[in-house]
Amino acid sequence: MALEKAVDILKYADEQKRCVIGFDAFNLESIKWIIDTAEEEQIPVIMMIYPADKKIMPFSTFAAVTGDLASKVRVPVGLMLDHGPDFATTMEAVKGGFSSMMIDTSHLDFEENVRQTAEVVKACHALGIDVEGELGHVGIAANEDDYKNADNFTRVDKAVEFIERTGVDILAVSIGTAHGSYVSAPKLDLERLEQINAATDIPLVLHGGTGVPEDQLKAAFARGINKLNYATGYKLKMYEVAKQIIDAGEIRPRMGDLVLAMERPMHEFLRGIMRLAWLHEDER
Ligand code: 13P
Repeated sequence: MALEKAVDILKYADEQKRCVIGFDAFNLESIKWIIDTAEEEQIPVIMMIYPADKKIMPFSTFAAVTGDLASKVRVPVGLMLDHGPDFATTMEAVKGGFSSMMIDTSHLDFEENVRQTAEVVKACHALGIDVEGELGHVGIAANEDDYKNADNFTRVDKAVEFIERTGVDILAVSIGTAHGSYVSAPKLDLERLEQINAATDIPLVLHGGTGVPEDQLKAAFARGINKLNYATGYKLKMYEVAKQIIDAGEIRPRMGDLVLAMERPMHEFLRGIMRLAWLHEDER
């Protein structure tokens, strides 16, 4: 299939009360393992890249590879730049062929976040590209204050105003998660999520998926999260699997042999998290 807009995948997920994983990938293997697993499971997926990883794979190459692999499968695949930091970077990704966009100026004050997000939305919508914005700030899991201090969380009234003034199609919320490896267990503000979900009518995203306990993730999916962003856990797993295979000494010391040997354990890992998010309790 051709690439689908993230917002269409997420609206479908919302109707079905399901959640899709937005994975951050950065090279051929990390893209292919995700699309192959999604196809095996028939679970839609959204492929993303961090702007900094264009050093590994330029935006246009990432978009071309994802588009080509998506065209060979039946399952819906979306393609989004994750955490676009400014207008120029988002436009670079648009030129490279990205079909959905995230602009993250959530570290700025509310008015400036509205202004910069609205600017990207205007340009993207003119080109038929859907946009995710972020309100409240999802910080770094190494800083406990980032995910424990409610000052960083999304305010319900502000979420309504932000959506109205920017025109975003998808909203990333801050309810007690952060990016990377947590220094203490996160505790999601589920009541706040419920209120945001009730007050808004666009798909909601939870960033910082790695390390959030399963029961809390399931509770967040049940309360309106339609996309879970997941990066650190995937990258750690790749390294761990590669190391185990190398240490076991059972393959020839060739990069191609390592990549092939990693395929099965990586599919198993991806299947677990995709199923957790997409399947209802009675389907597991
Ligand atoms: P983690 O790296 O904590 O999984 O977060 C990923 C993320 O939110 C990407 O936007």
